[in-house]
Amino acid sequence: MSLTRVRRPRRFLVCEPRHFAVRYAINPWMHPDTPVDVDLAQEQWRSLIHAYRAHGHTVESVEPAPDLPDMVFAANSAVVVGGRVFGSLFHAPERRPESVHYDTWFKTAGYEVYRPESVCEGEGDLVWTGRYLLAGTGFRTTREAHREVQEFFGRPVISLTLVDPHFYHLDTALFVLDDDNVAYYPEAFSPGSREVLAGLFPDAVLATREDALAFGLNSVSDGRHVFIAPQAEALAARLGEHGYLPVPVDLSELHKAGGGIKCCTQEIRS
Ligand code: ARG
Repeated sequence: MSLTRVRRPRRFLVCEPRHFAVRYAINPWMHPDTPVDVDLAQEQWRSLIHAYRAHGHTVESVEPAPDLPDMVFAANSAVVVGGRVFGSLFHAPERRPESVHYDTWFKTAGYEVYRPESVCEGEGDLVWTGRYLLAGTGFRTTREAHREVQEFFGRPVISLTLVDPHFYHLDTALFVLDDDNVAYYPEAFSPGSREVLAGLFPDAVLATREDALAFGLNSVSDGRHVFIAPQAEALAARLGEHGYLPVPVDLSELHKAGGGIKCCTQEIRS
């Protein structure tokens, strides 16, 4: 059986890694003594932007600020559904000032930005499925924030507990393929959350620990193409069997800060 998957054009917000560095450690991937090649990071990041545009997606960008080395991870700055922007309140004090820059971008673009009262890291932990939000907690975004998100959007929010520090954000352990399906790594979740996912997505594409450690689940799908780390070979092959077209984009330099493709990509849903 060969399935034709349908691509829906997206609008993405990104931030160039001009000031990228690993200066502090707020997840197990980060080692402040690791040298970072900023030119390589920029080159790899530009290949992601090129891939998005080549597949018909709109990409807009926020000006990077010096002294905010993680600002490249645009996904963490908000979650936008139906043109409504739920801003972020970062867990780490080092990242808190990023919000000013992203909020300003949204306001200039004509959006109002809701400021949360509880720690909430945008699309890092809040994943829109097309009908409801899957919400991660355990390391960053709090359950209290899940409640706030549900009040704000008036859409169901399903809380999922993350248990492995390598997968500290929901978007490192799960991504949405299309309106009906997701891919995820079950062991990143608590037993109860695993059951919830199995019930919601009986046909999900399951990833191995190796795929997940290769940032394979930090992917972006447009419904047809899946922008994915080339290191996640087994997962890419499995997605191919399910009728998706993997588009490999290597962001190995950014992996040093614990982020990949999805982390660099904020989706603006009008
Ligand atoms: N160094 C960043 C942090 O730990 C990486 C963020 C990755 N972003 C993501 N959406 N998972 O906050």
